[in-house]
Amino acid sequence: MTRDAVTSARHQHRRRWMLAIPLVCFAFWSGGIGAAAQAAELPRILVLATGGTIAGQADPRATGAYKSGQITGEQLMQSVPGLDKLAKINAEQISSIGSQDMNDKVWFALARRIQDAFDKNEADGVIVTHGTDTLEETAFFLDNVVRGDKPVVIVGSMRPATAVSADGPGNLYEAVQVAADPRSRGRGVMAVLNDKIQGARSVTKTNTTSIETFSSANDGPVGYVDTAGGIRFMAQAPGFRRTTYQLPAGEQLPRVEIVYSHANMDAVPIEDAISHGAKGIVLAGVGDGNTSKSALDALEAAAKKGIVVVRSTRVRSGFVTRNVEVDDDKNGFVVSEDLNPQKARVLTQLLIAGGVTASAELQKAFTATW
Ligand code: DGL
Repeated sequence: MTRDAVTSARHQHRRRWMLAIPLVCFAFWSGGIGAAAQAAELPRILVLATGGTIAGQADPRATGAYKSGQITGEQLMQSVPGLDKLAKINAEQISSIGSQDMNDKVWFALARRIQDAFDKNEADGVIVTHGTDTLEETAFFLDNVVRGDKPVVIVGSMRPATAVSADGPGNLYEAVQVAADPRSRGRGVMAVLNDKIQGARSVTKTNTTSIETFSSANDGPVGYVDTAGGIRFMAQAPGFRRTTYQLPAGEQLPRVEIVYSHANMDAVPIEDAISHGAKGIVLAGVGDGNTSKSALDALEAAAKKGIVVVRSTRVRSGFVTRNVEVDDDKNGFVVSEDLNPQKARVLTQLLIAGGVTASAELQKAFTATW
């Protein structure tokens, strides 16, 4: 090839490169813009971590043993691949406790942070990571105090992050799917674990160790979710109406005790509750919210002293009905309807804190929210 031919081939080659570079840059730039634009459209999810097994770490010295609340919310979310395709996530640590230690201080901090994030439009949805032992109580408390229709999802796990086939990562992924989905709006607080989406009023823990532990005995899940198939919400029963109560001033809810009924029941646990200043007593009754005559007499005396008495049941499903074997009208008692004792306690605390103590008004509150 002559020298001229070589020179012009070199020029052509350089010209092609000169052309290609801006094209390549444009491709990166537009791709980057595309990715940035896509990211900008993703829903903003605020994750509030409280501890629990989902943040637990196994004790290397003993098989099976673990400690709750060891991993931060930030670390949890970073440990789950693919979340960045679902939402823009911001994680904050509210507490690092096993949920058997859940308390009013954490409840109030959660409620205030969620309300603030919604009122300032900082988030399109909130996820609370939580231990499973009292998950249902926190879910119900938040469901009764957080205003607005943006999704609040509460999630936990039955096995620590370090366990063989840990259930936390899958639950977290599904929680983000639900919190990020516009169809989740207006449904109140929902618990997402093990492919199920369950309402705060009904969901309850039913097994000490199984990952299939949360269920809603009276009305079933509000929907299902899986990492591959997405979300399916069941048709919502008409007449579903949520009431929200003012978060009481201070950091403490009124003392309301749960008294568990059993064979050979006497009045001692009720008298103890009264002597420790209980403003309300929830009976975890046998059957349809029943208990022994001596216990009933003590509850009647408590009601006469202005202590709120709510008949709930230790039975897992069904509704507690007024005036069947107990004369609620005469005694001024309230029935919890479908609320189990631990949730009846939360609603009783909020009602007393809000100055509602007349049994007719209390009964309306227990019945109006389902
Ligand atoms: N320590 C219990 C709790 O934090 C463990 C149960 C769990 O989170 O699965 O509720």
